Amino acid sequence: MRISALTLFPALYDPFVSTSLVARAIDSDIVSISVEDLFSFVGPKKRIDSPSFGHGSGMLLRPEVIEQAITAQEQKYGLSYKIFFSPQGKKLDQELLSKLSLVLQEKKHIMLIPARYEGMDARVEKEYADCVLSIGDYVLMGGDLPAMVFMEGVLRLIPGVIGKEDSVREESFSEAFVDYPEYTAPVVWRGHEVPEIVRSGNHEALRDWRKNEAAKTSVIHHFGWVRSHASDREDKRRAAQFIPPHYVLLMHDQVLVDTEREGTSSLTSLDIHDIARSATTYGIQNYFRITPLLDQQRIAQKLLTFWQTEVGIEYNPQRHKALASVKLVSSLDEALAQISQVESSEPLLLGTSAKESSGIPRLTYSDQEKVWSCSRPVAIVLGTARGLAPSVLNRCDYLLGPIEGFSDYNHLSVRSAAAVILDRWLGINLK
Ligand SMILES: C[S@@+](CC[C@H](N)C(=O)[O-])C[C@H]1O[C@@H](n2cnc3c(N)ncnc32)[C@H](O)[C@@H]1O
Repeated sequence: MRISALTLFPALYDPFVSTSLVARAIDSDIVSISVEDLFSFVGPKKRIDSPSFGHGSGMLLRPEVIEQAITAQEQKYGLSYKIFFSPQGKKLDQELLSKLSLVLQEKKHIMLIPARYEGMDARVEKEYADCVLSIGDYVLMGGDLPAMVFMEGVLRLIPGVIGKEDSVREESFSEAFVDYPEYTAPVVWRGHEVPEIVRSGNHEALRDWRKNEAAKTSVIHHFGWVRSHASDREDKRRAAQFIPPHYVLLMHDQVLVDTEREGTSSLTSLDIHDIARSATTYGIQNYFRITPLLDQQRIAQKLLTFWQTEVGIEYNPQRHKALASVKLVSSLDEALAQISQVESSEPLLLGTSAKESSGIPRLTYSDQEKVWSCSRPVAIVLGTARGLAPSVLNRCDYLLGPIEGFSDYNHLSVRSAAAVILDRWLGINLK
């Protein structure tokens, strides 16, 4: 198995290939690493780079230099799978590393072609690249460190390089959760004690504790990863334990009834059913309908009584399950008081609006960590009519950004917006 690299700076690789597990993998003949100086393929009085066509751009590596280098390497070491590096490439992650470690084992020769300056002439990647890799959404001065990152990541997946294969399988990003916390001696260090369970010798309890710790860290700090990898019931159940309790509040009061005026709106049975079904799908504890109007409450109560008692249960148990979580209250404060009582903590309020609103901290749908690290229940507040009035918005801790597509129209019904918001905030989205 061989990895060859074509670079302008071969010296960068010297300590890398002569140190630690990489050196050991080379010494044990598991892999050979050869590093070739791109300058050795530049003819006398010729340049390795030339200016990019067009105004104001930098220098690019000349395509014929890369061509000669690739041809020479393949004559020496055989056909290769060629990897280029660019911030515009496919983002390297554990899954991709796994696939590429299989490629290395099958093809026996991977060639790495890191660039410098402004990068490669676009035609070179088109002609040669089997894969273009990015190691993240930032720009480095060259692709040599990305090439070494790739080698570190891929080599540890090759049997024999690390030794203990379990330690490779069980690590962060190999499944739905990141790694669990680990401890070594001394038992007490700077006043912090190694958790009792870790020293208990009870393997089953320790396994469960580790899984829960891994799930907790993952849900709070890597929710994007969890939601794209929690594919089975067990993963979902474990993750759900660490998502703070969420509530949905639909305001029929304190909403704008024209551009400025605050007022009330009517309830619709569609909103009761559809938002209750979405709320149940995304694990919401309760869906509060908020109206101070007694006639509206009476109408809603009639519907809820049907679905929350025997006739409704028998008629359609699934619908009953969704509507069982609906609560009818007359004010925002009443809903908040009920949540605080159940949760022994006041909820964080996440307002929603079809428009941008200044003065309230804005959340994106990747900001779960900001909210969840507060360890408080969460109430997502939805408006009816023309949206939440300032008297509600100004009480919100955060405002979730408007739901938008690539058009300038975003007048969604509240039940459609609720479904999209819940999915973006809490939904599974397998990769
Ligand atoms: C200065 S960068 C060129 C950046 C390029 N003009 C752009 O904006 O996408 C020079 C070279 O460094 C390497 N490089 C820089 N950042 C990288 C990253 N995040 N992942 C992979 N390679 C990177 C690539 O080989 C790239 O061609």
